[in-house]
Amino acid sequence: MNFGDTGIIGQYTSLAEMFRILEKVAPTDSTVLITGESGTGKELLVRALHRHSARADKPFVPINCGAIPKELLESELFGHEKGAFTHALKSRPGRFEMAEGGTVFLDEIGEMDILLQVKILRVLQEREIERVGGSGTKKIDVRIVAATNRNLEQDVATGHFREDLFYRLNVIPLHLPPLRERDEDVLLLMEHFLRRFCAVKKRAQLVLAQDVERILAAYSWPGNVRELENLAERLSILCDGDEAHPEDLPAKMLAQVGSISNLPPLKPRVNAFQRGGFTWPTISNLKELHLGMKDFFDIAEERLLDEALNMADGVKNQAAEILGIKRTTLIEKLKKRCPEE
Ligand SMILES: Nc1ncnc2c1ncn2[C@@H]1O[C@H](COP(=O)(O)OP(=O)(O)O)[C@@H](O)[C@H]1O
Ligand SMILES: [Mg+2]
Repeated sequence: MNFGDTGIIGQYTSLAEMFRILEKVAPTDSTVLITGESGTGKELLVRALHRHSARADKPFVPINCGAIPKELLESELFGHEKGAFTHALKSRPGRFEMAEGGTVFLDEIGEMDILLQVKILRVLQEREIERVGGSGTKKIDVRIVAATNRNLEQDVATGHFREDLFYRLNVIPLHLPPLRERDEDVLLLMEHFLRRFCAVKKRAQLVLAQDVERILAAYSWPGNVRELENLAERLSILCDGDEAHPEDLPAKMLAQVGSISNLPPLKPRVNAFQRGGFTWPTISNLKELHLGMKDFFDIAEERLLDEALNMADGVKNQAAEILGIKRTTLIEKLKKRCPEE
């Protein structure tokens, strides 16, 4: 399996276990439950799961159970027949039907009303749905992946989440730890996002002053990777020079970490081949990180592409020339990396 195209960045040591599970689980139809605080990358992981499944060319249908009013969620999920309620002027399929053959992503499932939870349980058990106001059931073929930032075991204990549904969903649990427990990832992700935003904004690559690195490593990141991504964008817009300094950081961040001179020194960076330095990895290094040869090539390619794009201020012709490849080859590689762009 090729992890280079998942868009998931991290020390492969902290992600290795997750990738190992992903590799086994993605091709199956098993239900997966992903837990983790908001902004830890749950959706990114679910999309990678879908893309590496046999359902990849079928629809991926996400639904945020917390964002849709509870009266509307049932008809949104299961559809409705004409006349089922006052505004049901036409029959309409729900998200489960629209996802036929593909994957339904039930995001924030912990927010789902307990009455609707029974109906989800039925989908999981019987693989059939019933439209609101309908008189029969319909077989469906979808894979269900759910995510939550809540502690569902606790919600089961307090009666807010059905125990039977919890066990049905929890076939393959994956937990994404908060960023504050992945300190080796903070700077790696920051550099990744800065490279991206600086390339998009066609500005020179920003580097971080040592003190900024110490602050970022010490900060608690309540908004996790999303907060870090937003900070990278902010820095790429607001920093005038080529180096970001502590005064460029948000006041609340500086306030939280306190005096810079009291912060611990930065830990030496491990796994040099992913970071600034370059050490030729041996096969045993790669094995340790659960990486295949292709994964290593992808990482190397990604870094060189980013570097060339930066050197060329985002001009693709020039970046291709720097790399000694054709412009069309470069564009193809960029498309593969970021299909949405
Ligand atoms: N390991 C990661 N590597 C790269 N980008 C990440 C990673 N984790 C999260 N992100 C990015 O952070 C943002 C929030 O992630 P998301 O998957 O929406 O989190 P969640 O669903 O847990 O709230 C997204 O823009 C996502 O692409
Ligand atoms: Mg989310």
